Amino acid sequence: MRIYEAKDYQEMSRKAANILAAQVILKPDCVLGLATGSSPIGTYDQLVEGYEKGDLDFSEVKTVNLDEYIGLDHENDQSYYYFMHQHLFDRINIDPANTNVPNGMAEDIAAECERYEELIRSLGGVDIQLLGIGRNGHIGFNEPADSFDKMTHCVDLTESTIEANKRFFASADDVPRQAVSMGSGTIMKAKKILLIACGEDKADAVAKSFFGPVTPEVPASILQLHSDVVVIADTAALSKCPGVL
Ligand code: F6R
Repeated sequence: MRIYEAKDYQEMSRKAANILAAQVILKPDCVLGLATGSSPIGTYDQLVEGYEKGDLDFSEVKTVNLDEYIGLDHENDQSYYYFMHQHLFDRINIDPANTNVPNGMAEDIAAECERYEELIRSLGGVDIQLLGIGRNGHIGFNEPADSFDKMTHCVDLTESTIEANKRFFASADDVPRQAVSMGSGTIMKAKKILLIACGEDKADAVAKSFFGPVTPEVPASILQLHSDVVVIADTAALSKCPGVL
């Protein structure tokens, strides 16, 4: 695992975008695993800039997103489908047919989870998976638990995640209670992992995930067992990691 320090959000975003850009240049038909939330917005802005400059071509790129709320349709501006179109897909030359977000409106969520897992397999797996990290160490919506979730599954969101995500909704009551998420096993199958973290409120999660024991109580800690992980975090997010700064 490599940990790179960035001085702030802007630098973290630039470094992360550089790695994703290199992937797209080296393998124009690569499969990018993507995330939502506050952390990747700057990274997506940088990728859009690369596209606008003519440095990046997304015409053959395929994407799979980590997760989606259950019960929010594509027009809902809090759905992850909407987020991805707003921040990335509608701003680059990607073919919408090559973009994939779990369908949180599926009538049969169990079947949707199986379909999504099979879809990733049929694409040949994820070349690089971009991840943020929750304050409780979650990745995707894999929350602290007694065991690691293996494959794409339906998740009951924890109170702490609902609390953290309510900033995007009118009130905590409006935050969906469930989501579809790639499992830790799905994430671990990606060929390369790129995790970004910014801010002091991520410092505990970053320290526990990468310097503590591997435990499902800290879902991101499983990444210690992956052979190709890059962490890009700002100084505040690294402030509790022993010997890094
Ligand atoms: C988003 C996701 C989540 C976020 C995490 C951090 O697709 O899967 O795990 O990456 O909650 O969110 P932010 O970046 O908003 O702090």
